[in-house]
Amino acid sequence: MAEIQGLKGFYDRYPKEYASWKKLIEIVDDTAEEFGFRQLHVPSVERAELYRIKSGDELMEQMYNFDDKGGREISLIPEQTPTRARLVQARKDLKTPIKWYDTSKRWRYEDVQRGRDREFLQGDFDIFGVESVEADAEIIAAAVTIYKKLGIEDRVNFLINDRRLLESLLDAHGVERTDAAMKVIDDKEKLSREEFIEGLLEEGLSQGQAEKVDELTEISGPISSTIEDLQELAPKESSESVQRMKDLAEMLNAYGVSQACRIDLSIVRGLAYYTGLVFEAFDAEGELRALFGGGRYDNLVGLFGGREVPAVGFAFGYSTTIELLKQEDMWPLKGIETDVYILSVSDSVRDIALDYASELRNEGLIVETDLGGRGFGDQLGYADSINSKRVLIIGERDLENDKVTMKHMESGKEELLALEDVVDHLKEEGLV
Ligand code: HAM
Repeated sequence: MAEIQGLKGFYDRYPKEYASWKKLIEIVDDTAEEFGFRQLHVPSVERAELYRIKSGDELMEQMYNFDDKGGREISLIPEQTPTRARLVQARKDLKTPIKWYDTSKRWRYEDVQRGRDREFLQGDFDIFGVESVEADAEIIAAAVTIYKKLGIEDRVNFLINDRRLLESLLDAHGVERTDAAMKVIDDKEKLSREEFIEGLLEEGLSQGQAEKVDELTEISGPISSTIEDLQELAPKESSESVQRMKDLAEMLNAYGVSQACRIDLSIVRGLAYYTGLVFEAFDAEGELRALFGGGRYDNLVGLFGGREVPAVGFAFGYSTTIELLKQEDMWPLKGIETDVYILSVSDSVRDIALDYASELRNEGLIVETDLGGRGFGDQLGYADSINSKRVLIIGERDLENDKVTMKHMESGKEELLALEDVVDHLKEEGLV
């Protein structure tokens, strides 16, 4: 017999563990709904060329590609942003703003490590058709709200930058190869200072330029004071970007999330399609990789057809956020839940047990019954293992008096109820 193991980086999530994942998905999805994002449902595979256009080299190397039977080169989607750009371009009748969300699987052939898998979930939020800073602020506010709901927003650094602003700063300080520098800057958090400088030298920067890049990308701090610093440093050409950052800061204030956010000039993001605002979040200890990332990408939709549509969005990373929740002792979020287990004392009462089960299921409760003719003790043990709140014990002796016994699993308390009072009793207790 062959024992076949699952693939590395593809996780088998058993129900007990997945209950918490589902709870987290619910928190992310509810946040999206509250902000008026609408859920879409799209394919898990695309033509590989969709990514060649603008996702960047790093992502291209991580793709799961194959040829289908018709000889087309197909990719398992490594991210959903290009798909969304394709969809927006294909439907010119859609009224803007278009606000979409969805949590689903993505695939990247990465080095597997804590919070980095080969098959993983992302929750994408995007707003299409709004060029102004209001959309940037709403996207960031939605992201911060998820962490507020989880109660860990003070364990997270929300870092914001503007690629154009950084480019003009670098330009003004004589750094010519800004494109090449950006790639190294994207890796800065993973490198020592020496490695960082070395990387820049390899990209053709001079020692002086590399040191300047290092100095500028060290700029990081609370939004308002950092904007003031930048205003002094920034050349005239970047006054628009600085003003936009100021407007963003005001709006984030109005959303009540500016306290949580910082400007950090080392955030540039690896994906090639971002055109201005970029942001990313990290755990406060700086131990984990990014919790989520996003930015503005005003040209991507236009690459897929005649219509230019500005866009801004982010993808929430489940794996790293769960690592952070574990670190904070806040995982699991939830266990397996059962409202009522219906215990049949003997086979002769099985039909009555099933009647109760359907009645209670119709009331919206999670109900299990015995499927295997097990004894009293075994059934009680099973009810405990599925965290059943109540056990409804149906036995012949009680039935002779038109009664059943309800056991409260937490307190151990038992009460005798008239057959017809079961649902009303559960309603009084707030279970229904
Ligand atoms: P990204 O930075 O590639 O951006 O991914 C966003 C987040 O997804 C990361 O910060 C991380 O938490 C999670 N993530 C990425 N790769 C993995 C992996 N291998 N395993 C587990 N989690 C991972 C994007 O994908 C953009 N499409 C985001 C976006 C949406 N920009 C605009 N709209």
